[in-house]
Parts: sequence; structure tokens; C-alpha cells
Amino acid sequence: MKKFMIINGPNLNLLSRREPELYGTRSFDDYLPELRSYFPDVQIDFYQSNHEGDIIDKIHEVGFSYDGIILNAAAYTHTSLAIAEAVKAVTTPTVEVHISDLTLRESFRQHSYLRPVCVHTIGGLGLDSYRYAIISLLEDETQIPAAQSGAPNY
Ligand code: DQA
Repeated sequence: MKKFMIINGPNLNLLSRREPELYGTRSFDDYLPELRSYFPDVQIDFYQSNHEGDIIDKIHEVGFSYDGIILNAAAYTHTSLAIAEAVKAVTTPTVEVHISDLTLRESFRQHSYLRPVCVHTIGGLGLDSYRYAIISLLEDETQIPAAQSGAPNY
């Protein structure tokens, strides 16, 4: 059975209460059983932290044994070279996920440290972004980080 780890970063513990017009009215705990039901043959583990170092520790912990990491680093996406280097350091492929569509948002959200080191970036689909991230991990056999596949290097 394949093992995937979902890692949610800061403020995502407030989903359902936080800016619902942007992030929806559903908590992640409410969504997780539905997400798991789409992939009965996959083990889907979940971790959330508001702390950069804890997110890095979790990437180190699972990043040599799991089959995929689904990472919504939230605001750290735009600030954290350290999380990007953790993703680069491990062997497990990571997909960058966002609930909102960053292309339609502020200019400071247009840069992602994670994009070049992740195999895919998926966003703008609400919580369904996580489902498509898992599909991409299951169906893309190549799993090449974006920076090595000809995508622009940010
Ligand atoms: C987010 C987008 C980020 O820019 C923001 O800081 C978040 C959530 C998203 O899922 O849309 O906290 O990652």
C-alpha cells in the first residue's frame, strides 16, 4: 500500500473559520475522511503545524520512506528557503498544494520557493486541490522536480 503524508502549514488549522470566502467553510478534519474515501488503497496521513521547524522535521521524518508528500506550506510557500531545501534534501516526491488560486492574488504570493523543488503545483480547486495532488502522485510515473523538467526556475 502506498503511503502519502499531507502536511499543512500555518493558519490552516483555522480552515472553516479563516477567510471563508477564500478558503471555504469546511475544516480539514471534516474533509479528510472524504479524501481518504476516494483512495481506499492508499494510506493518507495528515500533519499540521504553525511552526517552520516542525514542518521541516516532518519532511525529514517521512521523506525517505513515504511515496509522496502533499505540502500546503501556506505563507511559508512565499518565504521559506529552509522548507524548500528540506523538500529538495529528501527522496520522496512532493506536490505543492494551495486551496486558493495564487495567480489571481497579491503579487507577494506569485513567488514560491517550493515550486522548483516540487514535482507539481496544484491550486485553485478549493480542498479538491488535495485530491488532484494525490492523483498526480499516483499517475505521474516520472516525478521530476519542476526545476529539472524545463519549467521556469524562480
Ligand atoms: C494558501 C495560499 C497562501 O498564499 C496563504 O498564505 C495560505 C493558504 C492556500 O492554500 O491557498 O495560508 O497556501
